[in-house]
Amino acid sequence: MHRLLLVIGLLILVAAAEVFPVEPDLEGYQMILRRAANSADKLQVFQSIWGAIRSDFIDDTDKVKGLYTQLGNFIRTDMQCTSGPTGRSACELQQEVRRHLRSLMSQRLANLINAEESIQSYGMYVASSIEPSLVRDILEHTIEDVYFHRPLEKLTQQLDKLYTDRDEVSFKMMIEAQLSLFWRYQTMHDSNEAFLFNMAHAVSKIQTHHMYASVDASLQRRVEALNHSLPPVLGALFHPQGFCLLSRDNREYLYTTITDDWNYGLNGRQVFTWHEQNYTDSAGLIRAFVQEQHSTPVFSLRSELFKWYFFVDPSEGNRLAALRSGSPSSSTSFWTVTYVEDALIFRQRDLTLCAAEMLDKERRLIKMLPGQMHTPPSQACQWLPVDCAPPK
Ligand SMILES: *[C@@H]1O[C@H](CO)[C@@H](O)[C@H](O)[C@H]1NC(C)=O
Ligand SMILES: *[C@@H]1O[C@H](CO)[C@@H](O)[C@H](O)[C@H]1NC(C)=O
Repeated sequence: MHRLLLVIGLLILVAAAEVFPVEPDLEGYQMILRRAANSADKLQVFQSIWGAIRSDFIDDTDKVKGLYTQLGNFIRTDMQCTSGPTGRSACELQQEVRRHLRSLMSQRLANLINAEESIQSYGMYVASSIEPSLVRDILEHTIEDVYFHRPLEKLTQQLDKLYTDRDEVSFKMMIEAQLSLFWRYQTMHDSNEAFLFNMAHAVSKIQTHHMYASVDASLQRRVEALNHSLPPVLGALFHPQGFCLLSRDNREYLYTTITDDWNYGLNGRQVFTWHEQNYTDSAGLIRAFVQEQHSTPVFSLRSELFKWYFFVDPSEGNRLAALRSGSPSSSTSFWTVTYVEDALIFRQRDLTLCAAEMLDKERRLIKMLPGQMHTPPSQACQWLPVDCAPPK
């Protein structure tokens, strides 16, 4: 207890030696500071505090953080690392305290992640109490600590939770965390499709978030670099403006009919591919929306011309059609997505979305087919996302 008072007292003393009345049991230190308020003596006080923390409060993050902050102020106002032996010692001390603070914070964060506990409030504590470069350093160490211990795709989702609604500091910290994780993955030359899916999802959420515009330019550049290192096929899937799909087999594009007297009447549209190779227009524009997040996301697909959702009609031989929004049930309109090179593959249970037989000379049916669960499925079941031609 005595030592605790001593340390707290000293921190106050050093922060404002002239202002605060000093406790009787700190008289000795007060004398030292008063008698020779030169930098060397102050440094000695800091060293004593560090000694006391190390022997009795080695795990006390708040105390270490307090000392780190005070040392920072001291070095800013009284000292420079290059100003001789005292300056050098001060900076070495600061570095030592920093290293310890970093390990306390990153260990705590890693422990929470490993235990699958919420990291939000501890993240806020870290982000709001120290400078951004140390936050980055801490995240780097946290990721290193948990990288081989956690499923990677899950890690992305956990880091996502660092963001607290409407809080910009936590938003930036979450971005830093995802960046650390991704570059670590790159460095390790790992290959994990579920991870890349979730990372692409996270990046798309970051880039379309209303706070993203106010994030500093250097951080934005690093996010863009991450985006460009992801498989382009995923960038297209998560693109907020949508995409057109060409069948890999014959490069016919998938489109929703504009006028149609099919049995869905006003409530539905037929969907085909069109016979002209590489042709696209706005009738083909599709957006993918994440509906559920399991180990990878589950999507719905919306035809953007009318904003109607794709669904599968079992009564029509599992044909693909588009239905007025809100109508289709999740079992026929939710898709799991995988990819092979630059092509997307859309599935429901053990059925795969494929270009099928021609309906007439110009239009081809699109159906869910069984027996295409191997990787890759046949080319008729692989879809290339491309930019849609702008309306003429
Ligand atoms: C992310 O990258 C994809 C291609 O990989 C690109 O289509 C997309 O425009 C990029 N997003 C942003 C916001 O830069
Ligand atoms: C369609 O695009 C592919 C790839 O760019 C090209 O190889 C092919 O010749 C094109 N086909 C037509 C009919 O333009």
